[in-house]
Formats: sequence, structure tokens, C-alpha cells
Amino acid sequence: MEKHKIIELKGICKSYGGEKVLSDISLDIYDNEFVTMLGPSGCGKTTTLRIIAGFEHPDKGSVYFDGKDITALPPYQRHVNTVFQKYALFPHLNVYENIAFGLRVAKRPEEEIQAQVKEMLRLVNLSGFEKRHVTTLSGGQQQRVAIARALINKPRVLLLDEPLAPSISSCARTCSRSSRTSASRRASPSSM
Ligand SMILES: Nc1ncnc2c1ncn2[C@@H]1O[C@H](COP(=O)(O)OP(=O)(O)O)[C@@H](O)[C@H]1O
Ligand SMILES: [Mg+2]
Repeated sequence: MEKHKIIELKGICKSYGGEKVLSDISLDIYDNEFVTMLGPSGCGKTTTLRIIAGFEHPDKGSVYFDGKDITALPPYQRHVNTVFQKYALFPHLNVYENIAFGLRVAKRPEEEIQAQVKEMLRLVNLSGFEKRHVTTLSGGQQQRVAIARALINKPRVLLLDEPLAPSISSCARTCSRSSRTSASRRASPSSM
């Protein structure tokens, strides 16, 4: 079966203040693929994600989605959701309302919102956290709210910026809480 190309970057260039950040980047991403970009800090990973999501415009080159040129489309017209490195949760809303946000904007019926938020909370293992203020959550919990808030919109593409950092720190916290478990006895001190 032929693979379906969902995202295509063609000859993307981006500079900030005369400093070249992306130089002729071309990349094909296929449906159901899990792609990871690895590189040193400042090499342009976030900039690439922001260009795919539509928050930045390339100086040169094009972004295609399902074979259509979307370079000029604003973020809300792309079937892409982003979980930013800093999550950008709404600080005045609780966990439930943060996750419900996309469906409220889309004016979906209350019963659908309730059912979908419940499903998302289950998916990210945060059932029971509905009323918690997002500012009281750990970094890893905030990240999971941000993932749920993105997934509830059923995006075709989910972009995650630095997705491993809080999981590693939340794992370290879990390990340090259960310091008598064999798992943490095996963990090296530097991983905590
Ligand atoms: N809005 C901006 N204005 C000026 N420089 C920027 C801007 N965004 C990113 N940069 C610069 O572009 C480079 C790449 O940044 P970024 O894509 O965030 O890197 P990475 O995510 O790989 O760490 C860095 O040198 C950063 O300082
Ligand atoms: Mg980055």
C-alpha cells in the first residue's frame, strides 16, 4: 500500500536579524509516522515546528499538508495542534476547562464536551483532577493537560516540543517518592 504524505517541507529557509537558523530544510512526513527531531539547543527544532504549525512564516520555501500548499494559512486553519515547551495552559481555567477549550470554541454541545473531556482525562491518567487549578500541577501533569487539550481537537498532526523533559523529571520524582522500591534502587543517582 502506498504511504500517504501528510506533511512536506520544501526548501525552508528562516533567518532572524540576519542570522540564518534554517537553511534549505526539506522533510517528508507520512501518515501515522512518529518523527523525532534531535539536535543541539538553538539548532532550529522549535522554529521548524512553529513553521509547520503556522506560527512562523518561512523566508523561503513552502509547507504542504495533504499535498496542498498551506504556507499562507493561519494556525487555526491547519489540522495541526502543538504542545509547546511551556504548555501555554490558560492559568485562569481549571483542568477541565483547559481541556474543554477547543470544543467550547467549536460550540459543541455540553454532553459531548463532558464525555470527551472525561475520555481525555482517562487517556492522560488525570481522572479526578477536573477542578484542580493548572498552576497547582506538577510539570509532568501540566504537560498531560496540554496533550489532552490538543488531542480533544482530534488533530491530524500533533507537534510536541521537548516532550521528554518533564516525563524524565516526573519519573525521577516518582522514583524518589518510592525510594524503597526495587526500581529506584536500580536507578542511578544522576537520573533522579
Ligand atoms: N523570534 C525570534 N527572534 C530572534 N531569534 C530567534 C527567534 N526564535 C528563535 N530564534 C533564534 O533561532 C535559533 C533557533 O531557535 P529554536 O528554533 O528555538 O532552537 P531549538 O528549538 O532547536 O533549541 C536560536 O538561535 C534562537 O535564539
Ligand atoms: Mg526548542
